[in-house]
Amino acid sequence: MELIHTVAELRKYLRGVPNNVFVPTMGNLHEGHLRLVDEARPRGAVTVVSIFVNRLQFGPHEDFDRYPRTLMDDCAKLESIDCDVVFAPDEKELYPQPQTYTVHPSGIENILEGAVRPGHFRGVATVVLKLFNMVQPHAAVFGKKDYQQCRVLETMVQQLALPVEIILADTVRAADGLALSSRNQYLSPAERAEAPRLYKVLQEVRDAVRTGTHAYPIIEAEAMTELERHGWRPDYVTVRRRSDLMPPHDNDRDLVVLGAAKLGTPRLLDNLEVQL
Ligand code: PAF
Repeated sequence: MELIHTVAELRKYLRGVPNNVFVPTMGNLHEGHLRLVDEARPRGAVTVVSIFVNRLQFGPHEDFDRYPRTLMDDCAKLESIDCDVVFAPDEKELYPQPQTYTVHPSGIENILEGAVRPGHFRGVATVVLKLFNMVQPHAAVFGKKDYQQCRVLETMVQQLALPVEIILADTVRAADGLALSSRNQYLSPAERAEAPRLYKVLQEVRDAVRTGTHAYPIIEAEAMTELERHGWRPDYVTVRRRSDLMPPHDNDRDLVVLGAAKLGTPRLLDNLEVQL
């Protein structure tokens, strides 16, 4: 496995490689990330994983400074699952000048996660477009755990006609249902024991939606109240249509339940697709 820090070295390595599949990450890799690499590996000649904690997608009061940076551990994990290239640029390499040209995913960037984290999806779309230009993959793999991010990036690829196939991988969960996330390590033991409730509540919402009721606001309010009763501070639990994450019309069949809530300091995020 090659560890590469600069775009020049990366381009040299990839010259002559017929195609590559790309998994962008911010490092601090867990089983969920490794499954993304498993999805990627059979789909191309070379698998490239990037590790870059992207300042542009963090708000001023978010955890950019304390986001765990564990490059050597990450490389050991990636080597053990036959990743070919780790691209780990520093900030000067990724942003040699202030990034004044950015991608604005208008509309979707202002709802749900975007409403709670202004500018977040602008930062994500900008760095992913830039990484795509550096790595020039024919396909890239993202986890459905960050459902809105997947939608933002799929739409970016469609609207900007980028020659990259987007592959979405299912969320990996702990045995008790908690979706794996780098931020789970911020949970205290008591919070970790409580954390699977978010998934449980989303399952309850999904089951209610499957009964055919369209009383989504009532179901959503009940779900939020249940979380609050157990000490959570929910930002939203909501039923949306998958295509653009807007509230569904009565005839929409491809739905997703999305939830985000704080449990102490950590903020957890999860979702569940529902097919009617
Ligand atoms: O999902 C993530 O880890 C990040 O948002 C991504 C896609 C690597 C962009 O920084």
